[in-house]
Amino acid sequence: MSYFEEDFEKVRRRDEERRRKRRKDEDAFEIVEEVFDRPTLMALYDLINDGIIDRMFGVVATGKEARVYWAKNSRGDDLAVKIFLKETSDFRRSIIKYIDGDPRFARMRRDIRHIIKIWCSKEFKNLKEAIAAGVRVPEPIAFRENILVMKFIGDDGVPAPLIREVPPGDPEEAFGTVLEYIKRAVLKAKIVHADLSEYNIMNWNEELYIIDWGSAVHITHPQALEFLRRDISNIVNFFRKLGIETPSVEDIYKRLIREIP
Ligand SMILES: Nc1ncnc2c1ncn2[C@@H]1O[C@H](COP(=O)(O)OP(=O)(O)OP(=O)(O)O)[C@@H](O)[C@H]1O
Ligand SMILES: [Mg+2]
Repeated sequence: MSYFEEDFEKVRRRDEERRRKRRKDEDAFEIVEEVFDRPTLMALYDLINDGIIDRMFGVVATGKEARVYWAKNSRGDDLAVKIFLKETSDFRRSIIKYIDGDPRFARMRRDIRHIIKIWCSKEFKNLKEAIAAGVRVPEPIAFRENILVMKFIGDDGVPAPLIREVPPGDPEEAFGTVLEYIKRAVLKAKIVHADLSEYNIMNWNEELYIIDWGSAVHITHPQALEFLRRDISNIVNFFRKLGIETPSVEDIYKRLIREIP
């Protein structure tokens, strides 16, 4: 048994143990159950068998919709493993508006697990397209069911800080960089991030990484321009708070959409 399989076996046994205890500790049970339900375990096994993941370490971030783990492949490269949590109706409601109306996902089933899988594949695809357009994002490596594997941004299992925690040393330059990334995403990849803010930009030794591309929509999405304006507005507000002068949201927005063919 590899180190990871042992760990894995431990989690599985603990999970069973908890079942037997008839959910004495409702919350703790919930956590294991939520992340490592059967299909998730199977998907993780697949990723291990395919040689994509070798070892899983601790959780580095817990959001409402996903947990991110630090892992390594057999070469020792650091990976970020984002596991989308079991579907809640809230989750379903919050994501469906991003998928609906996107021609790339026209024939999707409304089945919830399937939606999560699509959500995960959508983030993978968006990351690929963003990279191809010259936007700095964590390189996506693989996805399986509700699990997305990407390059780890940070050192020794510690994620790089978000710009809201460690603002860029040169805000003026950073603002220009983020605007350029928005522009490349829209004009080359034809996608709008739709959840862009200081909460989804990492600062890794002054290199900015745009993360969390699950919500991104194609520019033909009915709300794409509304999302674009909001993204720009979040970025402008954040950088103005850092003390720089910027053009107005409206100017930036108008100039950009004029360039869309
Ligand atoms: N590639 C990565 N490398 C290192 N850490 C990462 C990576 N991707 C995400 N993280 C960490 O996980 C956190 C959550 O990731 P992300 O924003 O993609 O998920 P989320 O579901 O939106 O979570 P939240 O609700 O907290 O925003 C990030 O703020 C970051 O700390
Ligand atoms: Mg996020």
